[in-house]
Amino acid sequence: MRKSFKTVGIAAMTAAALTLAACGGAGQTSSGSASSGGAGTGTLEVFSWWTSGSEAAALKVLETAFTTAAPDVTYKNAAVSGGGGSNARTVLATRLQGGNPPDSWQLHPDKDLASVVEDGSPADLTSLYQENGWEAKLPEALKPMLQVDGKYYAVPVNAHRANMLWTNPTVLKDAGVKLTDATSISEFVADLPKLKSDGVAPVCLGAKDPFAPAQLLEVIIMANVGTDGYTQLVTGKLPFDDPKVRTALEQFKTILDNVNDDASAITWDQAAINTAEGKCATTLMGDWAFGELLNKGKKDGTDFSHVPFPGTTDIYDFVGDAFVIPAENAPNAEAEKVWLTQLLDPKVQSEFNLEKGSAPVTSDASLDGYPEYQQQAAKAFQTLTILSSLAHGQSAPAEFVSTYTDAVTSFLGSKNVDSFIKTMTEAQKNQLGG
Ligand code: GAL
Repeated sequence: MRKSFKTVGIAAMTAAALTLAACGGAGQTSSGSASSGGAGTGTLEVFSWWTSGSEAAALKVLETAFTTAAPDVTYKNAAVSGGGGSNARTVLATRLQGGNPPDSWQLHPDKDLASVVEDGSPADLTSLYQENGWEAKLPEALKPMLQVDGKYYAVPVNAHRANMLWTNPTVLKDAGVKLTDATSISEFVADLPKLKSDGVAPVCLGAKDPFAPAQLLEVIIMANVGTDGYTQLVTGKLPFDDPKVRTALEQFKTILDNVNDDASAITWDQAAINTAEGKCATTLMGDWAFGELLNKGKKDGTDFSHVPFPGTTDIYDFVGDAFVIPAENAPNAEAEKVWLTQLLDPKVQSEFNLEKGSAPVTSDASLDGYPEYQQQAAKAFQTLTILSSLAHGQSAPAEFVSTYTDAVTSFLGSKNVDSFIKTMTEAQKNQLGG
């Protein structure tokens, strides 16, 4: 039975901020004709939050793959702008509640998927996995994050590393600051004043996207509590009043004192571009920023550089994107299956992830022609300890994630460590299921 659809970070969303890149209701019903690889005719409506330059370019790769495989089906891009999907999730929730699902929608693997499966919205894809032999080419670490109770519900498209610090090499050099794999979080925080000068902020933050400060705090916490500590924290086994979490919050406070004045007015991608343009020394962002910087013509090594966020070199803070199709009221069931099948085609995986800044998730996708950063990141996904992002809803139930994001948003104004700890301690008790 369908339950109410939960959303993440609703408090931070404004309907006014919504921009529909394209809109439209459910597609037409397929005729079932075999003229286009079994996809029939009608429309395939794909819902995502990919509207920045690199996101749109990557999505276009998926569109082209689908329309080539299903030439008689009209592809409809229903992307809703707003980094991290905060706006998109509100729109999607309304549509799902109204029995008007798109043909396919974007979400994250792991707990984000689990929350949606609990609502009864996405279809069981286990037989599609079996027919296509997908299990054999997906990484072991990812498989459980695509399943609930042993059944597959989502098709993954990528792996993003969220704990990357993007830097401006000239600003760092002029300030005499070196950031390496061995730089600790306390060294980084101690160096911040050196990075401040006229018109330059030590850290760029695009807090117009609520996920950005939430992700920043998440990696500061990882740097302090380590991999086991983080896993315990998001499952309620390490309390938020642990001294190391408190240290993380104090460091977050110091970093916030060193961010750009317009933090609340700019988005994650503007923060990345501003860093490459020398308005900031650094910015923490997932490697979708790499795709965006290249998309905007910035050059790795000269305009910008990168280093794992200090203290998290051995960690791969994982943010993945995946697509699901509706369990009920599917507008075009046949075309939806063709769409999902295209997502794991090796050529599509290579081309899509090249644009997106991420790593392919299938073992048969080629990395030929990939920039060095993306080659390294793909290796890091296979070799480092994988943690699932809290800010992106992957490591905890939706309600807890929402409380966390809202608490971070309040902290930006109040900088009240005790109040943050109190809120999250309550949430651990009440929202993590014991
Ligand atoms: C994440 C998503 C990325 C990227 C980012 C900014 O949630 O996984 O693919 O799009 O948001 O919008």
